[in-house]
Amino acid sequence: MASILNFPQIHFDFGAIKELAPELNKRQIDRPLIITDQGLVEHGVCEKLLDALPSNIKVSLFDKIPENPTIFGVEQALEVYKKNNCNGIIGFGGGSVLDSGKALRVIATHDVSLIDILNDSDKITANVAPYITIPTTAGTGAEITFGGGIHPEPNAPAFGIRSIHVRPDLAICDPEYTMTLPARLTAATGMDALTHCVEGFLSNNSNPPIEAIALDGTWRVINYIDKAVIDGNDREARSQMSMAALEGGMSIYMGLGPIHALSMTFGDSPLHHGTLVTVAMPAVMRFYNHKIKGNALERIASAMGLTADKESGNRIADAVAETNARLGLPSTVKEMGYDKTNIEKMVRDSCESHFNMTAPIRPNGEEYEKIIIEVLG
Ligand SMILES: [Fe+2]
Repeated sequence: MASILNFPQIHFDFGAIKELAPELNKRQIDRPLIITDQGLVEHGVCEKLLDALPSNIKVSLFDKIPENPTIFGVEQALEVYKKNNCNGIIGFGGGSVLDSGKALRVIATHDVSLIDILNDSDKITANVAPYITIPTTAGTGAEITFGGGIHPEPNAPAFGIRSIHVRPDLAICDPEYTMTLPARLTAATGMDALTHCVEGFLSNNSNPPIEAIALDGTWRVINYIDKAVIDGNDREARSQMSMAALEGGMSIYMGLGPIHALSMTFGDSPLHHGTLVTVAMPAVMRFYNHKIKGNALERIASAMGLTADKESGNRIADAVAETNARLGLPSTVKEMGYDKTNIEKMVRDSCESHFNMTAPIRPNGEEYEKIIIEVLG
């Protein structure tokens, strides 16, 4: 059975930011809290956002969201929200900021602690603070998804926050704000989008409209990621990557799989999510080769411009590994600086991940062990 969920409203294009003022007005948000990170303030990107706001709006700013979203970061933002009597949230940043906003919109209106909500998403009701997202990276899809991860401590595995009520009300995707994204982050976040498209497409949920979107997103990443990495000022490539990221976010509505299970397993270190998933992708695609029934792998290979045949899983794996190398990304998790060696625990964590629930084939312990050894390097 296909279960098709609505996406939030989206404004997409260069210049889409001009929609922010009328949207705030329409939603009667006159005291918004902008949450962001210090990098975006220091590089003057946040200033461009402030310039887009009308003068009659009383804006508050919290710019201390950390590189990975934490309970502490969200609680600090809540203090500012309450102190300034804010009546809406604008998440301006990458995945960490945008996921933090999902947690913030809940605790701003619920009389329970964040840890309670992270332990039990059923406590989240529709009574949440208004939330508008403006992504400054192209890859996480967090601008439209209804889930996210919040770390209790920076180096501890994230708790999931998952509820249709945390889904942002509106996403303003203006590729202008991604123009200053450094090459390495452009590469890693862009490849994260590819994993969302591929894992969403392969998921055991049926949703033909999103499957078409996932293949389109796959095509965009493969055709534009090199251009965006080589020349950050290539506006066409930036726009295509922003759209690929959005389509990756839509693909997440179908669920993810072992690639993201592995990212959680290795997520007990402050390693970049996008880099982790693209490093893990080839081993998972090799695991799928010859195992997935039907022509799903062939359709992905075709979207990637590869020969679509019975070896498509291996062909996709090779193409991703080659792309990673070309973009200057690492080929193993060890190369990223991960030094833990307890394979037994890694296998256990991977097997227990909720991401397996939507996997087309759920690797057993022995299969995960083989995948983990390859990903670790
Ligand atoms: Fe991801």
